[in-house]
Amino acid sequence: MYKQLVAIALIGLIQPLWAQQRDAAMKPFIDQLMKKMTLEEKIGQLNLLTPGGGVATGEVVSKDVEQKIREGKVGGLFGVVGQDKVRKAQELAVQHSRLGIPLLMGSDVIHGHKTTFPIPLALSCSWDTTLIRETARTAAREAAADGLNWVFSPMVDIARDPRWGRVAEGAGEDPFLGSLIAAAMVKGYQGNDLSKEDAVMSCVKHFALYGASEAGRDYNTVDMSRLRMYQDYLPPYRAAVNAGAGSVMSSFNEIDGVPATGNRWLLTDLLRKQWGFGGFVVSDYTSLNEMINHGMGDLQTVSALSLKAGLDMDMVGEGFLTTLKKSLQEGKITLQEIDAACRRILEAKYKLGLFQSPFRNTSEARAQAEIMTAATRQLAREAAARSFVLLKNDKQTLPLAPNKKIALVGPLADNKRNMLGTWAVSGDWKQSVSIREGLQAALGNAGSLVYAKGADISTDSFLVARANALGVEIEKDKRSPAEMITEAVNLAAQSDIVVAVVGEAADMSGEASSRSDIGLPESQRALLKALKQTGKPLVVVLLNGRPLTLEWESAQADALLDIWFGGTETGNAVADVLLGKYNPSGKLSMTFPKNVGQVPLYYSHKPTGRPFNHEPFAKFKTNYLDVENEPLYPFGYGLSYTNFSYGDLTLSSPTLRAGESITASITVTNTGNFDGEETVQLYIRDLVGSITRPVKELKSFRKVFLKKGERKQIQFTITPEDLKFYNADLKWVYEPGTFRVMVGPDSGNTREQSFELK
Ligand code: BGC
Repeated sequence: MYKQLVAIALIGLIQPLWAQQRDAAMKPFIDQLMKKMTLEEKIGQLNLLTPGGGVATGEVVSKDVEQKIREGKVGGLFGVVGQDKVRKAQELAVQHSRLGIPLLMGSDVIHGHKTTFPIPLALSCSWDTTLIRETARTAAREAAADGLNWVFSPMVDIARDPRWGRVAEGAGEDPFLGSLIAAAMVKGYQGNDLSKEDAVMSCVKHFALYGASEAGRDYNTVDMSRLRMYQDYLPPYRAAVNAGAGSVMSSFNEIDGVPATGNRWLLTDLLRKQWGFGGFVVSDYTSLNEMINHGMGDLQTVSALSLKAGLDMDMVGEGFLTTLKKSLQEGKITLQEIDAACRRILEAKYKLGLFQSPFRNTSEARAQAEIMTAATRQLAREAAARSFVLLKNDKQTLPLAPNKKIALVGPLADNKRNMLGTWAVSGDWKQSVSIREGLQAALGNAGSLVYAKGADISTDSFLVARANALGVEIEKDKRSPAEMITEAVNLAAQSDIVVAVVGEAADMSGEASSRSDIGLPESQRALLKALKQTGKPLVVVLLNGRPLTLEWESAQADALLDIWFGGTETGNAVADVLLGKYNPSGKLSMTFPKNVGQVPLYYSHKPTGRPFNHEPFAKFKTNYLDVENEPLYPFGYGLSYTNFSYGDLTLSSPTLRAGESITASITVTNTGNFDGEETVQLYIRDLVGSITRPVKELKSFRKVFLKKGERKQIQFTITPEDLKFYNADLKWVYEPGTFRVMVGPDSGNTREQSFELK
């Protein structure tokens, strides 16, 4: 971690030098260009369109796109797939519009471009920022080879409600981990020079607080205190901005009663003035127009409001294109405001080197050479294996012993369609490796693998109709549920072990895929129940885009491996892990509740005035009548095929003073039978504060690889900086007093020590 931070800091030192030179030349260039631009052309730069063909996430699809490009009425496009098509669009702008201003070419590159990596929530469970950065770098290289120069990623929305389908797209519940991942992704996409032909501009989204939609229902209201915003929800956006993200996307939700897209406090006071963001802000898909539905006025009103708030580019809705001129004539906005937005977009194009090289050397040959290669697939395979989380492994059921007869069962076992997960717009599911294919390839002639589907993903017609809205991911088998289960049970009975691959279809999570019941569909539970009755050891391999409620499933399973949606190489990675070639090391970045009624449930909650003790039970304490307060699996949790034992935690001193540091040390020993990797986590609690403080907060972690029998002392440096928080005046301060340090394998299992901050 430390080395990585030093490296990032060094890049930070180098960057300003060349960036200064570039910026010095940029200003006169853009001044000159803007002098030539008509008002219509300036407003045209603020217009982002999609010609369709990709996934449209709203009702409106752009019309007359070619003509508008020729007329200089388009600043950027997204959803254009393939370098040849991108080139044609860029040619229209560069060769056929009056001033030849190149287009931004965007895309939802969320977890890979063509080579699809695990969904972001999965990747975050690797806690491996170097790996995550590398996946973003690879995605950037592929996207750039495909003609793109702008990616709508990373999504850094903190999310604590698994009913919200978009938890799949983010890094989970924690601001510390989320911030590190946000920065890693921005650096990965942008590299250290945006004008390089393999770099793309990152767009951090969704600014802000989108992950806190009420009741986990997508696009719903958000309402939270400033303290919570500053402390828990805003840090990852800020980390992405500090890492140099060139653009920011406003979110659909409101903040303090004003939709983010038209929220001046958010886009100007906080983002630009307090954080010093120098890039441009784009709306989300028609989020500007949607302010009409929010009750903020007609299209002209909300467009003027948004421009004045600090929005620079309008995605799809053309509110800017069709009303800003009128608003200017009526004195509702100023030319300076239009100029400022236009300049920011031209600056982005300049930084990307588009004025010098609008096509960025794309060609069919380059696309062929750089997209979906053996190397990108290898990275996808490693990334998938490193993101899997082993939730249970009784009696060392896994890894699978060699030469056993395996019954591979379940609707997701022989299924390519659902391996990529949500938001893989450019990924081709046909190129993904199914779990059956992966296992078969790895096993070859060793042992034997028999397969039965066993169940449909769901037979709930209400859910199936909605989940299949983007294409048939949940198929209906011709056989009855009973016939399918019988076939699976018969195979299981003749086998040594059952591997049941169950879970969600790809688009049961993601945008507009909120669920009020986050359990496994009934059809699959029935299958698991029947398999359990065979008495054979039961390995459950789970695909999911969100934490699910798995109390019953986890009780049935001898081993439970959460593989999320692993991307293109899912099947091979599953084989690597099930057969012991890779020892799982993932740790949850989001709490798994026992039931949906506990939601929102997260580890860094505040203490209440009436803490609950299990024994003896007392009335009038914070609890439920029908479920424990504790989650099924806490944040940070994840097992390995080996065991790690933790020694005592020691501190180098019982006191810490300003300008000094103390060291927390703990010895971790690999006491099991496999080499493996552990993520040692450090949490801190501020026991007394001027405002209430969380029961624990992640402050550091270390990934450590230990050979069988090996032990290592892990040290963490703690400085007063680590103890800072936002006080009631939103000042970033530390306060003297007692702090508890907790170190362990997950947030629910730690060794403790205390020190005084003087
Ligand atoms: C999503 C964004 C996405 C955009 C463009 C919206 O519906 O919220 O995350 O980038 O569509 O596809």
